[in-house]
Amino acid sequence: MKILITGGAGFIGSNLVDYFLSQNHEVVCLDNLSTVFKKNIEHNLDNPNFTFIEGDIRDIQTCIHATMHCDYVSHQAALGSVPRSIEVPANTNSVNIDGFLNILIAARDAKVKRFVYAASSSTYGDSKKLPKVEEEIGRPLSPYAITKYVNELYADVFAKTYGMQCIGLRYFNVFGKRQDPNGAYAAVIPLWAKNLIDHKQQVINGDGNYSRDFTYIDNVIQANEKALYTPTEQILKGQREYYNLELDEHKYLLQLNDQKQYSKMDEGKVERWKGGKEECWKDGMMEDC
Ligand SMILES: NC(=O)c1ccc[n+]([C@@H]2O[C@H](COP(=O)([O-])OP(=O)(O)OC[C@H]3O[C@@H](n4cnc5c(N)ncnc54)[C@H](O)[C@@H]3O)[C@@H](O)[C@H]2O)c1
Repeated sequence: MKILITGGAGFIGSNLVDYFLSQNHEVVCLDNLSTVFKKNIEHNLDNPNFTFIEGDIRDIQTCIHATMHCDYVSHQAALGSVPRSIEVPANTNSVNIDGFLNILIAARDAKVKRFVYAASSSTYGDSKKLPKVEEEIGRPLSPYAITKYVNELYADVFAKTYGMQCIGLRYFNVFGKRQDPNGAYAAVIPLWAKNLIDHKQQVINGDGNYSRDFTYIDNVIQANEKALYTPTEQILKGQREYYNLELDEHKYLLQLNDQKQYSKMDEGKVERWKGGKEECWKDGMMEDC
């Protein structure tokens, strides 16, 4: 089986690349290395089952070339981060919507068996309802959330119009190996782990009494494999084609901090993002992905 993994040099994508190569699949990785380093895939460059295409999903010809002869597409490429999308909404829009549409068109024309893509818990927007049920979403709270919701709408329309098999996996704050702890948009777990190693004081925004579901990368890999290969008759019954990917285990930030035995907390130091929801903070300390 030949799989195209877009964003395959990124945190989640590179873990997927490693896994599918270990299962003896052929893997094509399309990534423009805009937010990551090549080191995430360097160990695979000599693998005859691995092809790396350095290119941009905003270019349709690149997408057509990458998708050619692939059986499956796993679309992970995007500009992540709520704060980034608030700072530069046009960039996020063009990569996450135009790029998504390009890959979707290329996948349709290549007649791939299934198109699985990274959706997001940010699609729940301002909905306070718990537990999060796929059909019950709120209004988006950031440009990033809009793009991820539009992806679902496009995938749905392509499934209905062209008979494609599309599955969106709504990731909830994924953490694990190769997640970048550096930069303004770092997620909370790698950032705190790095601070712990560096003996640095943690900063908790607000009182820490807000929760998130965190999802370990291996669960994400497992779900992607199931989404790609589960026989058609067991899924895609025409009801919906997107699924929550979470353990339904809410962790409060204070809890997370206790578990890591961080020494001190410094409350409310970091500026609150305008336009985000209560839990969306600057400096990547907490964001709804
Ligand atoms: N990490 C999370 O907690 C989380 C949560 C919800 C959704 N997601 C989604 O999962 C996917 C993967 O996220 P991640 O955490 O691995 O992020 P990441 O930034 O590590 O990976 C994204 C990859 O996409 C590539 N990319 C960006 N723009 C591109 C372009 N124009 N053309 C080609 N490649 C491009 C980047 O270089 C990077 O390698 C994204 O779609 C993200 O929105 C992630």
